[in-house]
Amino acid sequence: TPQDKPLFQRLLGDGEEFGLRFAYATQDAPRGLADAFIVGRDFVGSDSVALILGDNIFYGHGLPSMLSTAASRKSGATVFGYVVNEPQAYGVIELGETGRALSIEENPKQPKSNVAVTGLYFYDNDVLEIAANVKPSVRGEIEITDVNKAYLERGDLFVEVLGRGFAWLDTGTHASLVEASHFVQILEQRQGLRIACPEEIALRQGYISLQQFETVAEKSAKSSYGEY
Ligand code: G1P
Repeated sequence: TPQDKPLFQRLLGDGEEFGLRFAYATQDAPRGLADAFIVGRDFVGSDSVALILGDNIFYGHGLPSMLSTAASRKSGATVFGYVVNEPQAYGVIELGETGRALSIEENPKQPKSNVAVTGLYFYDNDVLEIAANVKPSVRGEIEITDVNKAYLERGDLFVEVLGRGFAWLDTGTHASLVEASHFVQILEQRQGLRIACPEEIALRQGYISLQQFETVAEKSAKSSYGEY
């Protein structure tokens, strides 16, 4: 939102510290997830694109290679499924025997499976046109599920199911935010490794040099984060 934008900018800056380039756009009214491809049309340009929801947390061994595979696909869409207790709250995907998607429904009263579609999506450039033509749903939103349905119908939807060793958490309520905090705290405390420290990731991926890394770390040297 226009009100939140300065906070994100203050937190993340222009991306230079991570060897990246960040740009920001705002959505002045909550028109639905697929609106990202209308608001962000110029940002996407002629590229393929990934979308992640800000309240979703993904954690698991091997996740980076799953993401590179999805990102390197030349065409189609990739979504990630995850078995949940209450699929009604999500987009739900029904999978055939070979793992192919048979159907996808938003907030179904009678879910056809317990596999939720998580908030992380990879699309080819056609997503811009698809999203531009999606009509608002009964809840008044341009649904990402309708975008995914379009890919399903043209036989171009890849589904990767994150197995039981993964954690997919959402933090959209106070209770779920506390749960996710506990999860992260327990692992970080046990291993002494931080989860999703962007400076560390940038260094390991070679986006920044060791010298740049040290400069950035100096800035927060007095906190436990800086010490790490
Ligand atoms: C949105 C999507 C839904 C998806 C969920 C993941 O739901 O519409 O398909 O399963 O994110 O967090 P919303 O948070 O808008 O209800």
